[in-house]
Amino acid sequence: MDEKKRAALKAVEWVKDGMIIGLGTGSTSYYAIEAIGKLVKEGHDLVGVPTSRNTESLAIEFGIPLVSLENIGHIDLTIDGADEVDPKIRLIKGMGGALLREKIVASISSTEIIAIDDTKLVQVLGTKSPLPVEVVPFGHRRTKDAIEKFGCKAILRGGDSPFVTDSGNYIYDCRFTRIENPEELEKMLNLTPGVVENGLFIDLATRVVIGTKDGVIVKERSQD
Ligand code: A5P
Repeated sequence: MDEKKRAALKAVEWVKDGMIIGLGTGSTSYYAIEAIGKLVKEGHDLVGVPTSRNTESLAIEFGIPLVSLENIGHIDLTIDGADEVDPKIRLIKGMGGALLREKIVASISSTEIIAIDDTKLVQVLGTKSPLPVEVVPFGHRRTKDAIEKFGCKAILRGGDSPFVTDSGNYIYDCRFTRIENPEELEKMLNLTPGVVENGLFIDLATRVVIGTKDGVIVKERSQD
C-alpha cells in the first residue's frame, strides 16, 4: 500500500462516533476523507469541517455531512498532511495552498493528527520544502521585499498568473537554507504588514503518523 494511504488510514483509527472532524487538504488527506466517508456510510455519526474548497467537494462526493465553523465551538479531531515535520513535530504546511484555513482549523482542534510519508521528515525545517506565506494581493511585491529580509528567496506561486487561495490571496514560496528558529520566524512573518498567515505550524500537531514502506510509526508531540 502507498505510504501516504497507510498513514492516513492509521490516523482514521482515532475517529470516534459523534466527533466533529477537521478534514485536511492534499493527497494524504484524500485517503483519510475517503475512509471517513466509508465510516459515515456504515452509519457513524460524524460531521466534517473542510480546510479548502477542494476538500469540501471531496467530502460531499464521499457523503460526509459538513458543518460551518460559525456554528460550532470546537473541532474534536483533525487529520491533515504536512510538507515537512521536524523532530519536535513542528511543521511546514501549505504546498497545497490551504495553509490559512488549515491553521484556523488546527488552532481550534482538540487533537491534530498529521499523516505523512517518511519523505516529509527533516532534521531542520526549511531544508527540503520552501515555506509558503499567504499575502494579500495589494502591494504584494513590497510584502515580498519585507519577507526576503528574513533571509529567504521568495517566489510568487504561479508567477505571471498568480495562484489565488480560497481566501483570495497570493502565496509566496520562501526558500530558506534552513529555518533555525521557527518560533521567532513565525512571529516576525505574521507581524509583517501584508502577510495573512505562514505555513509554520508550531505546537499545533498532537501526533504524527508516518507511513513507511514497512508499516506505520506514530509519534506524540511532547507537551514540555
Ligand atoms: C495543503 O495546503 C498542505 O498543507 C498539505 O497538507 C501538504 O501540502 C501535504 O500534502 P500531501 O499530502 O499532498 O503531500
